[in-house]
Amino acid sequence: MSTDNSIQQSSADERPGDKPGDKPDDRVVIFDTTLRDGEQSPGASMNLDEKIRIAEVLEDMGVDIIEAGFPIASDGDFTCVNEIAKMVKDSTVCGLARATAADIDRCGEAIRPAASGRIHTFIATSPLHMKYKLQMEPEEVLVKVTESVTRARQFTDNVEWSCEDGSRSDHDFLCRCVEAAIDAGAGTINVPDTVGYALPNEFADLIRMLKNRVPNMDKAIISVHCHNDLGLGVANSLAADEAGARQIECTINGLGERAGNAAMEEIVMALKTRNDHMPFRTGIKTEDIMRASRLVSAVTGFSVQPNKAIVGANAFAHEAGIHQDGVLKHAGTYEIMTPESVGLNKSNLVLGKHSGRHAFKEKLKELGYDLGDNAIQDAFKRFKDLADAKKDVFDEDIVALVDDEVVRANDTVRLVSLEILCGTVHKTPKAVLELDVDGDVKGCEATGDGPVDAAFNAIKQLFPHNARLQLYQVHAVTHGTDAQAEVTVRLEEDGRTVNGQGADTDTMVASVRAYVNALNKLLVKREKTAPDAISA
Ligand code: KIV
Ligand code: ZN
Repeated sequence: MSTDNSIQQSSADERPGDKPGDKPDDRVVIFDTTLRDGEQSPGASMNLDEKIRIAEVLEDMGVDIIEAGFPIASDGDFTCVNEIAKMVKDSTVCGLARATAADIDRCGEAIRPAASGRIHTFIATSPLHMKYKLQMEPEEVLVKVTESVTRARQFTDNVEWSCEDGSRSDHDFLCRCVEAAIDAGAGTINVPDTVGYALPNEFADLIRMLKNRVPNMDKAIISVHCHNDLGLGVANSLAADEAGARQIECTINGLGERAGNAAMEEIVMALKTRNDHMPFRTGIKTEDIMRASRLVSAVTGFSVQPNKAIVGANAFAHEAGIHQDGVLKHAGTYEIMTPESVGLNKSNLVLGKHSGRHAFKEKLKELGYDLGDNAIQDAFKRFKDLADAKKDVFDEDIVALVDDEVVRANDTVRLVSLEILCGTVHKTPKAVLELDVDGDVKGCEATGDGPVDAAFNAIKQLFPHNARLQLYQVHAVTHGTDAQAEVTVRLEEDGRTVNGQGADTDTMVASVRAYVNALNKLLVKREKTAPDAISA
C-alpha cells in the first residue's frame, strides 16, 4: 500500500483533470450521496435492487464518487455498499464511517471489492456537537481524527475526512483537525455545512481560510457538503467552488436530511451554463439528468415539485403568450439552457392504441429508459391497457407507467383485482379486493367512510399490519379527465416511514397500488443504528 497521501491514487480518481490537455485545476469532482444522505430523508429508504439501479445510472452519467451507504448502520446497508462496490467500475464507491474502529473496519470490508473504493470517515468539530453530542473535549476529538484516518488508510489509499458541523467550528481548532487528518493520510477534506446555516460569502471565506492557514492543505482536495435548510445549499457549494473547493457533495433532486442536500442537477447545470463566470467543469453527462431524476423520484416516492429548477415539469414550459412567442422566434429569449441538454427530448411521437412494440421501445429509449426484455414485455402490456383506456398516450404517461413497473418489480404483495361500490346509491362504500401475498391469492370485502377508506380497510383485512397512514396524495399525470392518477401513500410503523407510489387511469386502483407498494417497502426490514447516532 502506498503511503503517498497527495490526493488520490486510484484510477477513477485520476480522471478529474488528468486527461491530456485538461487543466487539473478547473475540474470539479462530483460526489453523489443520494444513496447515503439522500436515503436519510424520512420515507426515502431504498432496497438493494433500487440502490443498484440508481448506482448504475450514476455511473453511466459520469459521477466521480458514489457514496453508497453507511455499512455499520445495518446488514442491509453493508450489503448495498458491498454489492455496488462489486458492480461499479467507472466511479469510485464510497462508504461512510464514524470515527470508531468498528465503523471503519466494517466500511473497509464493504468497499473491499471495489475497483476504486473510498472510506469517508467523520467526526463533529463544532463546540456544540463536541460538548452535547459527543461529550468529548476538543483534544480528545483531535486524537480521534488521527486515529480514524490512520485506521481507514489500512484499508485503502483513498480516504476522505469530514469535520461534521464544520461551518460552525472554531477556526483555530478546525485548522488543527484538518492538518492532522492530512498528516494521517486523508486525500480529501470535506467541510460540511451540516445544518444549512452558512451564507455564501461566509462559507467561501471559510474555504479560503483553510487554504491560507493549513500548512499541508495543498496535499488534499477540499470538498464541500451543503445542506439546504435556508435554501442555500447550491449557492454555498458554488461559492466554495470559486474559493478553491474542487469536490462537491450533492444528491439527485436535492434529496437528503431535513430540507435536503445541494441538488446535483442544479450545481452541474449552473457550472455549465455560467461557465463564463465559473470556469470549472464536471464529468457529468448532463443529458442523463432527467433519467436520474425520474428514477430517484420513482424509487423514493418523493415527487419533484413542478417549479423545481432543471428537473421540474415546468422548468422548460412556457405558459405566457409573450414568452411562447419569444421562444418560437428565438429560444434564447427565455431559455438559458436547452431542454435537450438535460435529457428532455421534444418529440412528436405521441403513442396510441395502434402503436406497436417497436414504437414503444423507441419511446423508452428516447425517454432514457434502458429496460431488460422482461421489463419491456410487462411495460408494453400495461401500455396497451392504458392505450385502450385513453386516446393519446403522452411521454408523462409512459414515464408514470414505467416508473410504476420499476417501483414494484420486487413486491411480494401485489394487487390482483379491485371492485369499488360507491356513489349516491351505495350509501356505505364497499371494496371487493384480491391480493396475491407471496403467491397465495386471497380475497375479501370491506366497507369504509369513503371508497379510499374501504379499499385500505380491505388491504388491512387481507394483510394485517400496524402501520399508520401519514400521507395520501393524488396528482394527475397529464391534463384531461382521462389522465392517469399518480398516488403517493406514506406509512409509518415502529418509527420507520416509507413512501409507496401507484399510477393508473383509475384513481382507486392507483391508490391501492400505492398502499400495497408502501407495505412492501415496510416488509424489507432493515435494522438501523439509532438515528441520533447517525448524524446529518
Ligand atoms: O451533513 C453532514 O455533516 C454529513 C457528514 C456525515 C458528511 O452528512
Ligand atoms: Zn449531510
